[in-house]
Amino acid sequence: MNFEYSEEQKMIQQAAKDFAERELLHDVIERDEKAIFPTEGIKKLVELGFLGMMTDPKWGGGGMDTISYVLAMEEISKVDSSVAVVMSVCNSLVIWGLETYGNDAQKEKYLRPLATGQKIGAFLLSEPEAGSDATSQRTTAEDKGDHYLINGTKNWITNANSASTYIVIAQTYPDKKHKGINAIIVDKNTPGITLGPHEKKMGMRSSDTHSVMFNDVKVPKENRIGEDGFGFTFAMKTLDGGRIGIASQALGIASGAFERAVKYSKERKAFGTEISNHQAIAFKLADMAVKIENGRNLCLKAAWLKDQHLPYGLASAMAKQYCADMAMEVTTEAVQVHGGYGYVAEYHVERLMREAKLTQIYEGTSEVQKIVISRTILKD
Ligand code: CAA
Repeated sequence: MNFEYSEEQKMIQQAAKDFAERELLHDVIERDEKAIFPTEGIKKLVELGFLGMMTDPKWGGGGMDTISYVLAMEEISKVDSSVAVVMSVCNSLVIWGLETYGNDAQKEKYLRPLATGQKIGAFLLSEPEAGSDATSQRTTAEDKGDHYLINGTKNWITNANSASTYIVIAQTYPDKKHKGINAIIVDKNTPGITLGPHEKKMGMRSSDTHSVMFNDVKVPKENRIGEDGFGFTFAMKTLDGGRIGIASQALGIASGAFERAVKYSKERKAFGTEISNHQAIAFKLADMAVKIENGRNLCLKAAWLKDQHLPYGLASAMAKQYCADMAMEVTTEAVQVHGGYGYVAEYHVERLMREAKLTQIYEGTSEVQKIVISRTILKD
């Protein structure tokens, strides 16, 4: 077993770190406060080739491995998770799904502009009454011969406004339940699509999250991904990989908060010495370090399995559940180490704590991960 990163992986990690510190850090607090989409940051992310970083170069992607993706996601999430989530949704949900299950015509038309970063994508699964219970899709894609007619509402859609390409999960044969669901590529500017207002979120406020309403939206049949009724399996398989992205995001949020707590504890004095000299603080830092190391190992294991083309659904659910819950614990402790300063925006840790909360909710709550984990271990 080799725990060392390759030279290429180290370079990608360093490039992500430099990018985050140079391009994102200076205005992350203002963008969060005012909920401003990180347009400039995303442009630079595209220049780095990070939006389609794992896609085959044949389709314009970077051809990097999943380990590099974890390393890059961690570095960017240390600074700005609103940027990291764009990267994660594009790479893991939209692009991976299209590359793995799309046909060549779909790849030429939709994958290439996504992999090269000319376009942004969004993954439309969640609904007002179908969040964790993803089989209960109410959005319909009625089969009209040569096209589908889509009606319904999707909720909490990351990149809803910035994306040009949507992958929409919708029900075609309600009597077949999850076996009647399809995944359909939809151009965002198709007539009949409207967006709800920008959601005023607790954290990751500068990522654009909206409801998306479909009213008689006509989409050619050729835009369906895979066989008729493949949509739910498509969504589940895609989320298996998506969870590696969000686990790495949670890891980055935790390690970003931890690094700030370590730095602060060596500068701040109380009772005649730096607070890092007090065991009350030093032991907190030790606990945080162990948790982060565990989380990183889970993320890397899931990424390694995926790169080896071995089953990774269990590992990605474990990484996602552990890292999200761990990020909440670690960021809460980071605020505590900072005392009063931790509660104000300038020190970043309160924002990181708000961001951590979302990782316990999206791409499957921590409870959903426990369903996946327990069912898998009880199956045999
Ligand atoms: N791969 C392939 N097939 C899978 C699968 C997987 N990982 N997981 C389930 N399936 C299949 C099952 O085998 C089953 O098929 P059969 O009937 O043919 O046997 C079918 O799917 C239904 O599975 P379950 O019976 O397990 O379904 P369930 O209703 O009990 O729930 C669940 C499963 C795990 C809770 C699932 O609904 C789920 O993952 N929910 C959470 C959804 C989610 O993560 N949403 C996130 C939205 S995207 C997002 O957040 C993006 C963003 O903005 C950042």
